[in-house]
Amino acid sequence: MPATRSAGSIRRKAQDAWLFLSRWAKAPGRMGAVAPSSRALALAMAAEIPDDKSDCPIIELGGGTGSITNGLLESGIAPSRLVVIERDRHLASLLRQRFKGVEVICGDAGQLPELLARHGITRVAAVVSGLPLLLFPRDLLDQIVDGCFTVLGPTSPLIQFTYGHASPLPPESFGLTARRGPKVWLNIPPATVWIYQRASAG
Ligand SMILES: C[S@@+](CC[C@H](N)C(=O)[O-])C[C@H]1O[C@@H](n2cnc3c(N)ncnc32)[C@H](O)[C@@H]1O
Repeated sequence: MPATRSAGSIRRKAQDAWLFLSRWAKAPGRMGAVAPSSRALALAMAAEIPDDKSDCPIIELGGGTGSITNGLLESGIAPSRLVVIERDRHLASLLRQRFKGVEVICGDAGQLPELLARHGITRVAAVVSGLPLLLFPRDLLDQIVDGCFTVLGPTSPLIQFTYGHASPLPPESFGLTARRGPKVWLNIPPATVWIYQRASAG
């Protein structure tokens, strides 16, 4: 019944909001946000994934409570093609329960090539990141971005959102080009999507 479904979905959103806030209170520098991303932001990020016809995996970094995971699946990505990296064990286990058929790896996005190699993955079609990159120290940022472009194909993108106005990473210092994607007002706070590719791809 629609009324029951919508009551269930409101309850789940409230539970997620509370869980998110409690994880933020434990590790603000890792969560980086006090509330999960909106469906609108998740779909805007999913829309930036090129339709490359390959069946290479799509990687999501920092799955949280699964808002972006949900949007990626809703946009038509098969669960078997999606791999989510989440460092928080509690959140990783929640994601596993929620998204049957999606590979959820509990680990540090700074070790991306190594984590994926353990699952036999060496090439990926896109990386969609919900990580709070602006809060990370430079050495972790280097590890994450270099790791992403080690496994991404020559023209494949890293897709990241930010609450700020400017690019959340300095593209030139990684040999990347940056394209500003849509601003999503239906998110708390509003967020902008950024798309990074190797400079040699353009
Ligand atoms: C801003 S939340 C985003 C959650 C979700 N994607 C969303 O948009 O609602 C950031 C998430 O990244 C995770 N995270 C932070 N640092 C990480 C790291 N080094 N490796 C993997 N996950 C990390 C946090 O535990 C948290 O779940």
